[in-house]
Amino acid sequence: MSDISDRRRAASSGRAPTPVALIGAGRIAAVHAKSLRDPAVRIVGVADPDRSAAERLARELGTDAYVRWEDLLELDEVEAVIVCSASDAHAEQVAAAAAAGRNVFCEKPLATDLDGVDSAISAVERSGVVLHVGFNRRFDPGFAELSRRVGSGGIGRLLQLRITSRDPEPPPTGYPRGPGGLFADMAIHDLDMARYVSGEEVVAVAAVGSSIVDPLAGAAGDIDVAAISLRFASGALGVIECCRISTYGYDQRVEVHGSDATAWTTNPLPAVTVQADAGGARSSPLHRFFPERYEQAYSAELAAFLSACRGLGAGPAASGNDARAALVLAQAAQVSLLEGRTVPVAEVGSPTTPSTADLP
Ligand SMILES: NC(=O)c1ccc[n+]([C@@H]2O[C@H](COP(=O)([O-])OP(=O)(O)OC[C@H]3O[C@@H](n4cnc5c(N)ncnc54)[C@H](O)[C@@H]3O)[C@@H](O)[C@H]2O)c1
Repeated sequence: MSDISDRRRAASSGRAPTPVALIGAGRIAAVHAKSLRDPAVRIVGVADPDRSAAERLARELGTDAYVRWEDLLELDEVEAVIVCSASDAHAEQVAAAAAAGRNVFCEKPLATDLDGVDSAISAVERSGVVLHVGFNRRFDPGFAELSRRVGSGGIGRLLQLRITSRDPEPPPTGYPRGPGGLFADMAIHDLDMARYVSGEEVVAVAAVGSSIVDPLAGAAGDIDVAAISLRFASGALGVIECCRISTYGYDQRVEVHGSDATAWTTNPLPAVTVQADAGGARSSPLHRFFPERYEQAYSAELAAFLSACRGLGAGPAASGNDARAALVLAQAAQVSLLEGRTVPVAEVGSPTTPSTADLP
């Protein structure tokens, strides 16, 4: 571990508020900003090339706005950086923050290609800072419980895993779209969930997809409906269903089927009251989208990151290698889609250099 990193950790061990810089001021930055309004945190600046976005969020947080993210790294006091920018900026920003001795929380994906992932991970390893990747679903109580039950043998031997992942609507107009986007941007969460809940590596991927929902995705060469089949190292199988539209809200469910038992999560509802009459029963609609559905998980993942920055806790729950493994699976899915065949994961890239720390 570098001296600079040691100094930063020591400085924060006296429980002074951790000085944090925020890169990016869009949708997910606004979500994380809520959790950062905490006495344990002092936000020293927000950077976004969209000046009005930076100024709006900075005003809400009572901090300074910057147009250049590099300027935040010039501020000596910054101990931790939260990267919420567009995905293609992540690798460079993580590598620069790590090289400057700052602990980094980076939204998924860590990079849009494997070279970017590897350079970010190398920079983090060289400087010894904390890197935590934003796979927030690992902090969802329901999914975490499923992972524990599989890991403890509570369902016997895992045979099948099923993930349902439906967004209420496609991303906004300006959101980057391109070939492979559904796998690398949306399904990457589900691919990570498959590894996290099963506690296994995936060895082969087969995917089919269509462009029938979001004209912008189709024009950019991407799909918006997909079914991804997975073969795990043990021979267990997984299925992930993704769709960019859902009239009834944000639908996020996982089921594990084992030799002794089957377990699944239902969607937590914003309200628990059910009203029934002769026409049937009516419950609350689902949460609308990710900010509401995962509010608790987003807050818990940042709390875990900040604890890791202070040298507390078990370390990052989603590492650089986890980010690499999920991106490899997303790329394998895209190769399968284009070539119409089952793709061995090793063909795309070693899924990770697995260490037990990367799996539950
Ligand atoms: N974990 C999750 O549930 C989740 C949810 C949504 C988005 N995300 C991820 O968060 C990231 C941002 O997504 P979003 O939905 O907030 O998008 P967004 O378009 O709402 O916001 C992105 C912001 O980044 C800014 N930006 C672009 N290039 C930048 C750069 N070089 N430096 C600093 N800022 C830059 C843009 O101007 C924009 O304001 C993406 O990587 C996305 O995959 C994660």
